[in-house]
Amino acid sequence: MASRVLVILLLSLTLAFAEPLRRRGAVQVIKQVKEKGPYLGVIAAYPPEEIAFFASKAFKPDPNHPFVELSGRLYRVGKVFDKKVIFVRCGFGMLNAAAVTQQMIDVFDVIGILHFGIAGSANDSISYGDVTIPKQFVQTGLWDWLKPNGTLGSSDFAHLDFGDFGVPKGNNLLGRVGYSSEEFFSVNGKPNLAERLIWAKVTSQWLHLASNLEGIELERCVNSSFCLTRSPKLVSGVNGTSADIYVDNEAYAHFLFQEFQVTSVDMESFPIVMTSLSNGISVIVIRGISDLAGKTGEQDIDTFEDLAATNAVTVLLRLLSMLPSSSLSSSSSLHHHI
Ligand SMILES: *[C@@H]1O[C@H](CO)[C@@H](O)[C@H](O)[C@H]1NC(C)=O
Ligand SMILES: *[C@@H]1O[C@H](CO)[C@@H](O)[C@H](O)[C@H]1NC(C)=O
Ligand SMILES: *[C@@H]1O[C@H](CO)[C@@H](O)[C@H](O)[C@H]1NC(C)=O
Ligand SMILES: *[C@@H]1O[C@H](CO)[C@@H](O)[C@H](O)[C@H]1NC(C)=O
Repeated sequence: MASRVLVILLLSLTLAFAEPLRRRGAVQVIKQVKEKGPYLGVIAAYPPEEIAFFASKAFKPDPNHPFVELSGRLYRVGKVFDKKVIFVRCGFGMLNAAAVTQQMIDVFDVIGILHFGIAGSANDSISYGDVTIPKQFVQTGLWDWLKPNGTLGSSDFAHLDFGDFGVPKGNNLLGRVGYSSEEFFSVNGKPNLAERLIWAKVTSQWLHLASNLEGIELERCVNSSFCLTRSPKLVSGVNGTSADIYVDNEAYAHFLFQEFQVTSVDMESFPIVMTSLSNGISVIVIRGISDLAGKTGEQDIDTFEDLAATNAVTVLLRLLSMLPSSSLSSSSSLHHHI
């Protein structure tokens, strides 16, 4: 009896110490990984994007520390061409995207973030397999939900009346939504003082580099027997939007296009850009079009998501190869110059 109690006691002691030991091990690994930086952070959101990235075989894992586990995410450490890269899949939605971006910046020596993935298109001129590199993103999920004809708040920069979408048009008890701007805190601003942010802009030098890629050849076949009849294209400098909303509704996609002149519609880009800007870090977003956000007669998202992810990766890799290594050789002091 006594020996069994002792065994249990020893077991629970071992378990109690195992966790801190593991964490100490992780701290060591993180320190060593960090010392080998600076890195470019590459963030995907959704498994088909991660699969397309690794299928390209461009990523060479670091032989000593191929990955770090943090908060249930797998940060993979390695190189793409001559660039040191940390890759992570954040999971979908604004919370995952912001949390992972901030964690990556806090934990590793990351001097810039390249986010890629798939998106819906609200622009009739942009379709399946095309790739967008937006200039800026607007958050369209921060709502003041108001009474019918309610007065918009001072931070609201746009609104939607549900009555406008009735057939025929009329009043609707769901009333009105005011689109509110974000509270933006930044290393370049006064501490604890938020500014209002409507459009979060990607890094202009990187966007300029990316614009030189227009005309790049992209894949047009889903498989050996199913191809698009046109060649997909890369378009840079458009607008994009994000919200915790999966848009599969033609009327709403049309509203987004009319009201905000947005092309790509997704659930992660805005928080990744905003968080990078808060920290003074360079950022760019590459989104391949997998669907038309609910347009009548569109293909199911499954049909083109792999093609869209593959084309986004093609653009990502070309851009990575073009980023000047010189601007990536030293850390924090350069944040504002690259
Ligand atoms: C909202 O305003 C419109 C136009 O002024 C008016 O026709 C409508 O009756 C109002 N709706 C409500 C619910 O007050
Ligand atoms: C992007 O949005 C801004 C602000 O609404 C607008 O002025 C601009 O024309 C839009 N850009 C494009 C390419 O549609
Ligand atoms: C829609 O896409 C076309 C084709 O690339 C582009 O030229 C145009 O600026 C886009 N419209 C808006 C409002 O962004
Ligand atoms: C090719 O893709 C299309 C569309 O998803 C599908 O219907 C078809 O079965 C696929 N063909 C092959 C050979 O995999």
